[in-house]
Amino acid sequence: MNACLRAAARKALTAGKRVFGIRRGYQGMIEGDFVELSNESVSNIIQKGGTVLKSARSTDFRTPEGRARAAAKLQKQGIDGLIAIGGDGTLAGAAVFYDEHRIPLVGCPGTIDNDLYGTDETIGYDTALNTAIQNIDKIRDTADAHDRLFLVEVMGRDAGFIALNSGIGGGAEMVLIPETLTDINKIKTHIHSLMADKHRSSIVVVAEGEELGGASVIADALRADAKFVDIDLRVCILGHTQRGGSPSARDRVLASRLGVAAVEALLDGHANVMVGLVDNQIRLTPSRNVYTRKKSINFELLGLTTLLN
Ligand code: F6P
Repeated sequence: MNACLRAAARKALTAGKRVFGIRRGYQGMIEGDFVELSNESVSNIIQKGGTVLKSARSTDFRTPEGRARAAAKLQKQGIDGLIAIGGDGTLAGAAVFYDEHRIPLVGCPGTIDNDLYGTDETIGYDTALNTAIQNIDKIRDTADAHDRLFLVEVMGRDAGFIALNSGIGGGAEMVLIPETLTDINKIKTHIHSLMADKHRSSIVVVAEGEELGGASVIADALRADAKFVDIDLRVCILGHTQRGGSPSARDRVLASRLGVAAVEALLDGHANVMVGLVDNQIRLTPSRNVYTRKKSINFELLGLTTLLN
């Protein structure tokens, strides 16, 4: 997000605009928490995780009154165009805000979940994916040394992008994602055969949104089965380690391109759209489509996890 902020600020400054950062997201907008940005104030942030502007959930912005207060603060500050970086909640808020107040608004996709329609990848996803894979590699050392079965839970909310791709990249023996229906009995049989057969250790990557429940729920189901009494099973939940840390090169480049594209879209008179990268080309998608349409997972990749074991 910092790389995107830096790119957007510098592009807009180059175009002769004044640029303000809004601290704490929509809540900061309601409270008029603005800070003027310069070329210098966004230097030395491209390598930083998190966001220097901070982030916040805003219940006030969910109300028409809250959004009206935000619009009034923007007007008072002379802000006539907005760039919002975030996930589906941010973009849904942006669409409603535009409908009500008509302040041109361009969204940038920022979420580790990669679940936004209109872009092949979201800002933060690649970094989270790499963190997950690095951790799976580390967990594999213990799994291998102790002949253990590990259930590794990764984030992604209701989407399985991180799980599927970290599973493939980390060489997991199995991946469980919310996009497919999981039959617990088939899972038990498969994992048991993996442990009993050629694999003395196995890693199963479980998406937190897996419909059977997360890794702990699945572990309980396995432990309750007599077949698993001799199997040394552990659960590792990667959690918020996936949301932080210095961004990957791929994320920095994506964020820089999208930050510049967002300003260009505003300058070209676009409003209520999200900028994304599809087949390596900048694409604009109406904000509403971003969160009402579903980005599909590549099911062919699921077959890879089975094939490669
Ligand atoms: O949507 C991004 C995400 O990181 C999800 O993957 C995860 O479920 C959620 O946010 C965690 O949110 P919080 O930090 O509020 O617990």
